[in-house]
Amino acid sequence: MCGIAGYLGFRKAYPIVINGLQRLEYRGYDSAGVVLLDGNEMSLYKTKGKVSDLKKIMKQKNIDGNLALGHTRWATHGVPNDENSHPHLSNSGKLVIVHNGIIENYDTIKKELIIRGYTFKSDTDTEVLINLIEEVKIKNKCKLGEAVQMALSNVVGAYAIAVFDISKPDEIIVAKLGSPIAIGIGENNSEFFVASDASPFIEYTRNAIYLEDEELAIIKLGKEIRVRKIQDNAIVEPDIHQLKLNLEQIEKGGYDHFMLKEIHEQPDAILDAYRGRLLASKGIIKMGSVDNNIARFLNANRIVIVACGTSWHAGLVAEYLFEDLARISVEVEYASEFRYRNPIINKNDVVIAISQSGETADTLAAIKLAKSKGAFVFGVCNVVGSSIARETDTGAYTHAGPEIGVASTKAFTTQITVLALMALKLGNLKGELSNSRYHHYIHEMSLIPGKVEEVLKMDTEIEKIAAIYKDAPNCLYLGRGFNFPVALEGALKLKEISYIHAEGYPAAEMKHGPIALIDEHMPVIVIATRKGHYDKVVSNIQEIKARHGKIIAIVTKGDTIVREMADHVIEIPETEEAFTPLLSTIPLQLLSYYIAVMRGCNVDQPRNLAKSVTVE
Ligand code: M6R
Repeated sequence: MCGIAGYLGFRKAYPIVINGLQRLEYRGYDSAGVVLLDGNEMSLYKTKGKVSDLKKIMKQKNIDGNLALGHTRWATHGVPNDENSHPHLSNSGKLVIVHNGIIENYDTIKKELIIRGYTFKSDTDTEVLINLIEEVKIKNKCKLGEAVQMALSNVVGAYAIAVFDISKPDEIIVAKLGSPIAIGIGENNSEFFVASDASPFIEYTRNAIYLEDEELAIIKLGKEIRVRKIQDNAIVEPDIHQLKLNLEQIEKGGYDHFMLKEIHEQPDAILDAYRGRLLASKGIIKMGSVDNNIARFLNANRIVIVACGTSWHAGLVAEYLFEDLARISVEVEYASEFRYRNPIINKNDVVIAISQSGETADTLAAIKLAKSKGAFVFGVCNVVGSSIARETDTGAYTHAGPEIGVASTKAFTTQITVLALMALKLGNLKGELSNSRYHHYIHEMSLIPGKVEEVLKMDTEIEKIAAIYKDAPNCLYLGRGFNFPVALEGALKLKEISYIHAEGYPAAEMKHGPIALIDEHMPVIVIATRKGHYDKVVSNIQEIKARHGKIIAIVTKGDTIVREMADHVIEIPETEEAFTPLLSTIPLQLLSYYIAVMRGCNVDQPRNLAKSVTVE
């Protein structure tokens, strides 16, 4: 994982890089470091901890220099300590590197380098890579760019790297395989920015290149960027993208945490996800990437969905949507299992890959595998221009805007929105959904943002419930049908940000084991909305009550039956059963948020996690 931010140009590099690292902390926050080059004078500072810890150290230091590389780390090789932090230097002290990814054959390379007299201060694969580059450079008496290229031809793994030589203060070499890297280009090539995504440089330039896998770029002040393929040295004409991101979108905007801001952004995010696609006044759904491939969808034997984490939960909701509305059989796979299982994929299968970041390593690998077996792969991604967006045959963006809190919130609801549009459209075209039902659903979807607003107004009530259960050691989440994946998602939200052990189950499964856990100390969150197996869920609630469990029920507005049984109820507006996940998930997000805040947890950057999981 890890985040890289770098600058080369006429401005002071330090403030740009340190602010950039803070924006990239969602990628990991085990340690942070920065290297500055002022003329040929180099200074290197690194520390275990967050970018804010690095900033404290830097208060007393010389921060001059027009070239800097910074790094925020999510530890893979070696514990998070100062030595293992990036940037790393080669043995001569002349070459500097920051790296995001994993060099899988680093141990073999390290042993060879040790035989040749190299020594290592850290346990990292990255220090091995920079010394390999040094060894190749010395042995072949070549330029840095060539040495990086040759060294990378010998490594197995994934990387986004930025490297410079302290005797060349006007040059940075950047390369990519598997992990993302963007290069921002200043006017007349007078300055360049290097970063894991474009957020560190959006206030300086709108022009950016996203390197593709196996590409290497030579960035030289005042010159055009030169891009080559690492394996065959072929020259690549890079595409210059116009960035649309703005600063406001990546700031907290008055909220205490990004997560809370992102929860509250959901009415707009859902609207943005269907804007231009759901034409409610005309009663149609228009989706270019589906329309252009309509035969593939309509003739699909089945849809296979690959994803991880929250995106996988959105995939489970989609299974209910596609099967119920379009009568297309669906299988939902953990990308990490799918990729290693030799799965059976037929040419008539449509694979849908779901990912907020568009960088999840397992999902990316699953896509490549599905493509190699001849499948048509459709991506549902949030981050524009991300690796998954580029690797899939086509797809639909969710347009949720940047999601910075590690816990996924608006990504989930916008993924469901996009997938619901697809299911409705296909259902209607297949004749499974009559025109009148189709139009009814379209109208109902257009009301969802307003209904989400209504749920968000329950904020204070949910905070009060959170105060009662904040010290619970365990929690159960139950739901049926469309709301079973919501139960899983609710449990994931709670465990990842508050560190409370939580499990989600289909409500009826309770009797097959989990019911043994229920006593007067066990809070059970039950999604008991009126449409969708209501009576069955009511029975499940009675079973929990009989064992003295504490019930927090998500119910449909006006419900009286569950109100009498539950310890707490949170009302959500009525909608079609297929769309209830868009509403029922919101109270669960807020509940987790408030519990985590009350427990003093770092909500936006929970321990051991990172936003983009770019390693398997
Ligand atoms: O970027 P992706 O959607 O591919 O990420 C998948 C998971 O890593 C992600 O959803 C993770 O589970 C979230 N932190 C959950 O809140």
